[in-house]
Amino acid sequence: MAGFYSRPPQERIELVSRWAALSPEEASVLGSRCALDLALASRLVENVVGVHGLPLAIAVNFVVNGRDVLVPMAVEEPSVVAGASAAAKLAREGGGFKAEATAPEMIGQLQVLNVANPEQARSRLLESRDELLALADETDPVLVGLGGGARDLEVRLLENTPAGPMLVVHLIVDCRDAMGANVVNTACEALAGPVERITGGRVVLRIVSNLADRRLAKARCSLPEEGLARDEYSGEEVARGIVDAWALAAADPHRAATHNKGIMNGVDAVVVATGNDWRAVEAGAHAYAARTGRYASLTTWQRDGQGNLAGELEMPLAVGTVGGTTGAHPTAQVALKILGVETAGELAEVIASVGLAQNLAALRALATEGIQRGHMRLHARQVAAAAGARGDDIEEVAEGMRSEGTIRPDRAEAILAQIRKRDV
Ligand code: MEV
Repeated sequence: MAGFYSRPPQERIELVSRWAALSPEEASVLGSRCALDLALASRLVENVVGVHGLPLAIAVNFVVNGRDVLVPMAVEEPSVVAGASAAAKLAREGGGFKAEATAPEMIGQLQVLNVANPEQARSRLLESRDELLALADETDPVLVGLGGGARDLEVRLLENTPAGPMLVVHLIVDCRDAMGANVVNTACEALAGPVERITGGRVVLRIVSNLADRRLAKARCSLPEEGLARDEYSGEEVARGIVDAWALAAADPHRAATHNKGIMNGVDAVVVATGNDWRAVEAGAHAYAARTGRYASLTTWQRDGQGNLAGELEMPLAVGTVGGTTGAHPTAQVALKILGVETAGELAEVIASVGLAQNLAALRALATEGIQRGHMRLHARQVAAAAGARGDDIEEVAEGMRSEGTIRPDRAEAILAQIRKRDV
């Protein structure tokens, strides 16, 4: 895929279609026409009046667990796709990303109030564990047939909430390749009555937890430091800068929020491209980043003393390859085919690798020239379009701003006005 970025979009479509062996119908989903039509859109949500487009791009150079992967990313921010691709190329020098995902277990919560004897209620619930799990399984025989289903029951006593003590029952469900919120919510609602009878309390909330800390994905990479060299910076200096940058995110929530935002630039773009619930993934990521009681970095970066920089990302990734919007949205289906993933776990592994790559790209830029020079060059076209430029004028206005070294809406408008005057 060398030079992928410099090819015209139609050629990129042909390359990707060949690579992923897309059928003509699947390939037709790519291109300028939005594959989500109004009729389908109005089946997805309420009060539909249109469809909202985002650029769909392909990040190149990714190797995940020894497999070359093209990564579809739906994102409006310039530099994200270029950054991921550049970082994946660096990681490739060290063999690419090694990634793994835990079993796809989600947690459902039942809140139990007005329990007279919480300790006794807890024991009774645990004694009824098998019966409750069987009841949960009755709500989704298809999932059970696929090897998923209710796995465990945990009971927590929260002594000091603003509403006083309460019990919280956690139902653990293996959701296989579904994201799982619907599966878990249905099972939790089915357990509410039995839990009330067993505890003598009143069940109020019955809902999935987005802190999916039993459904984690981990990606690692180790790359030769010399490949990190940039401008006047040696590879070793850049590696040191990356570790120092990470150290601030490890110690300071104000930096960690931005550091993790950069990770989520990559994660969300794939989550959106595959029709998954990016709010759920965001919520899980940030709650997990604060799991020690202090919000911190989701990644770690270390130099191994043998000339390599090693990075690791671990985060909850509740994503699915079946059901929900993923199953209904034609672009999401094609995105999954391009990714070549079979299971939700494999999808999570790729997404974690993209998040780690995105973090590497940001830290490398921050540790050297800063992000603005590269970012503003790419951003210039957006500024030109926002100023009203269309067609070939966009590149001409962008280039005008680049050569002036000032990328701002007022300059875009002035250059556009000159072009229009000239072309009259
Ligand atoms: C911008 O969208 C993301 C960064 O701010 C991430 C970071 O600072 O690590 C560049």
